[in-house]
Amino acid sequence: MKNRFILLLFAIPFLACNNQVKEKKGKIMEGANVEATIDSLINLMTVEEKIEMIHAKSPFVSSGVKRLGIPDLIMSDGPYGVRLEQGDDYAPKPNVDDEATYLPKGLTLASTWNAELGYEFGKVLGSEAKERGKNIILGPGVNITRSPLNGRNFEYLGEDPYLSSIMAVGYIKGVQDQGVAACVKHYLANNQEFHRTTVNVLMSERALREIYLPAFKAAVQDGKVLAVMGSYNKFRGQYCTHNQYLINDVLKKEIGFNGLLVSDWGAVHNSREAMLNGTDLEMGTDISMMPKPDYNKFFMADSALALVKNGEIPLSVLDDKIRRILRVMFKTSMANNNKTGERNTKEHQQTALKIAEEGIVLLKNDNILPLNMESVKSIAVIGDNATHKHSMGGGSSQIKAKYEITPLEGLKTVCGNNVKISYAAGYKLSKNNEIDEKLIAEAVKLAKSSEIAIVVGGWIQNWSVSTWSDNVLDSEDTDKPNMNMPFGQDKLIQEVIKANPNTIVVLIGGGPVDMNLWVNQAKGIIQAWYPGMEGGNALANIISGKINPSGKLPMTFPKKLEDCPAHKLGEFPGKNDVVNYFDDIFVGYRYYDTYKVAPQFSFGHGLSYTSFEYSDLKLVADGKNVKVSFSVKNTGKKEGAEVTQVYVNDVEASVKRPEKELKGFSKVFLAVGESKKVEMVLNESAFSFYDETKKSWVMEPGEFKIMVGSSSSDIRQTKSIKL
Ligand code: BGC
Repeated sequence: MKNRFILLLFAIPFLACNNQVKEKKGKIMEGANVEATIDSLINLMTVEEKIEMIHAKSPFVSSGVKRLGIPDLIMSDGPYGVRLEQGDDYAPKPNVDDEATYLPKGLTLASTWNAELGYEFGKVLGSEAKERGKNIILGPGVNITRSPLNGRNFEYLGEDPYLSSIMAVGYIKGVQDQGVAACVKHYLANNQEFHRTTVNVLMSERALREIYLPAFKAAVQDGKVLAVMGSYNKFRGQYCTHNQYLINDVLKKEIGFNGLLVSDWGAVHNSREAMLNGTDLEMGTDISMMPKPDYNKFFMADSALALVKNGEIPLSVLDDKIRRILRVMFKTSMANNNKTGERNTKEHQQTALKIAEEGIVLLKNDNILPLNMESVKSIAVIGDNATHKHSMGGGSSQIKAKYEITPLEGLKTVCGNNVKISYAAGYKLSKNNEIDEKLIAEAVKLAKSSEIAIVVGGWIQNWSVSTWSDNVLDSEDTDKPNMNMPFGQDKLIQEVIKANPNTIVVLIGGGPVDMNLWVNQAKGIIQAWYPGMEGGNALANIISGKINPSGKLPMTFPKKLEDCPAHKLGEFPGKNDVVNYFDDIFVGYRYYDTYKVAPQFSFGHGLSYTSFEYSDLKLVADGKNVKVSFSVKNTGKKEGAEVTQVYVNDVEASVKRPEKELKGFSKVFLAVGESKKVEMVLNESAFSFYDETKKSWVMEPGEFKIMVGSSSSDIRQTKSIKL
């Protein structure tokens, strides 16, 4: 039935195109053929039909042209699973089968440092989107983590442009191989949620090129992403979604993006600018028009039509937008393939589990982990996050999960009947961060009477497990007030440790908390992020040693907020709706290492239950390329995986360059005693910086230091080379 529908879609434009394109049925059209068909279709459309196509007709749908067999374009959030179905008023639709696989959220994926898992992740998402009839999935989000306070850090891929690029490209390919378009977001500099719709971001050209742009560029050039979403904020005074420089000059002309630029929801503010400065599709719903928004009042609707009709906007500009929309359709809804997608399969759930197992990071281990479940008699599990579900939290990335295993459930499964597990909430969610002494006392009592205490705390995304109406902390549209643990958790952890020194702290959340009050006393600390529907199982598998942890931090965890470069050198969240990125390119470890500020836990840090030894670092120059090779050996007693990281330092440069920049990594899986050789080639881009006077990337000849290690602060081998 579905196939017949697709053939019909093809037949109409072909007939209408007067056989200009001679395609055999069943053969996928490519390149020039697609472009020719698109041109023919455009020639058949009225101006009114074209205008209908460039703005929303319901919250996640824009129009096709029925008489030409062009279907509507159907979108869905979001980055970590296909969002539940919503009506025109954004309220969940009742009685629909829209449960989905809830994948671990962005930072968990980035923490795997496993490019193949990026692809697997995208594959699940694309397949489920296809099954639900979606043409575009609104993800991945690749905004750089500039401050730990950004409420949307959890959705993104960390602080490093190289790591973000690699993970995003895998994700995009995984999605798009299923016949669904990915939409990389939010272009650009949407690094805070505070006043996100009005804030004007000011940064140097170098910071743009070296830090904030690369993941988008990689998404386009390496991932071949079909859609990009323009962000809410302004950049150098102009709204990003219709920013001449960012969209027309950089993204479309320079980077060569020939796909669809869709606005963030409600991010268009001006018809003329949007039409001329590269916005192809205006999405969103004016809440003030609820429950029946008038889509003709959108900036790219009636008023845009008037501008085209009176000749102020050339028709060619409108045609370019239609061409870009049709390109997406010819790869998705109008593609001639048999892809149907699958949803909620065991395989999808296994992928969610694997990503969580590889993404959860063991931060500290004073010989307490893994727990031997054969000999441990009793565990006190403490903390609201041990039972809190997060799939519906965070804003537009909410997912109606098929199921969500909590940490307490995961631990109960792994312990079976061997270990006595008891639970105490320990703290209560309260908007005023009230400390509940009674809950602390109960938790302390339990910790005292148990062999091991595991406190599962950190941030939350939503108060309620079923809506996002009242969400806080790790969420869209809000930033965190500070890095302090909410709801009196510092006191709880301190008291529990006093009662039972064998305490492990598990942190849920989209970034670091200030750990100063207990970091030295806690014997084990685990960063579990938002680990998805199988998160509780993954966590329990790591705690019990069934899985050897291999996740590494994709962002630096500072000791305190004041240490963070965005706050110390730059501004966050800015004043009077202007934010200056004086921290420039010194974001994350680029700052901590160069300015000698010791973090709590470094970028790239993550412990294992085994140990790895590095040897034989060799550098071979070949023109402007360097072949790097080294060996890594599992010298411990457990099989495991090591994320080997390659950093570059330009020893003498005409501009200030960071002490270290990540330019390569490889996750190596090793049996006990096994050794493997890692090889990679660093090309010119690994040694270059963006020269603002020359307006281009420059590689200055001279000496470069290549550092290979287990984290940005745990460098095992260093060698220099002259290039
Ligand atoms: C978010 C986007 C999201 C869109 C649609 C916006 O508020 O910023 O990330 O894709 O809504 O839900």
